[in-house]
Amino acid sequence: MAQHNLTLTVNGDPTTVTVPSHYTLLQMLREKLALTGTKNGCAAGECGACTVMMDGEPVNSCMVLAAECDGARIDTVESLAQDSQLDPIQEAFIETSAVQCGFCTPGVLISTRALLDRNPDPTEAEIREAIVGNLCRCTGYLSIIKAVRKSASTRAEAEV
Ligand code: FES
Ligand code: FES
Repeated sequence: MAQHNLTLTVNGDPTTVTVPSHYTLLQMLREKLALTGTKNGCAAGECGACTVMMDGEPVNSCMVLAAECDGARIDTVESLAQDSQLDPIQEAFIETSAVQCGFCTPGVLISTRALLDRNPDPTEAEIREAIVGNLCRCTGYLSIIKAVRKSASTRAEAEV
């Protein structure tokens, strides 16, 4: 089976990894790099549990071939907390009870991060649009929307 030697940046770290041709980015992260925070919900591009950032844009990692990631910058949920300190987005999700079973949470956190990076003050409609690809069976989404709003205001306060 053909193998690919890849050089990329994962969560800020220069990384080299060898993967079979058929491996997805999701498989590479979980099975080759032991980054199991990114979840496999459907492996079919439907649920968003596998969302990571690729060159600053959220993608369903189950739908991206690992071989396409040579030279890319990949950021996963593990990039959010720094030195055991949770990111304000993670704090906001805890404070608003937007985490229940938690399976969707890594993907939702990454979609939130991507939204706030490009739009620091989103409307509710913009928040709903940003997380439309992230299915959650537990929360009913209202607490997630509240968490994204809280994340945005915390970020704004931090920049004052
Ligand atoms: S696991 Fe990728 S979209 Fe569901
Ligand atoms: S918290 Fe359970 S699926 Fe979202």
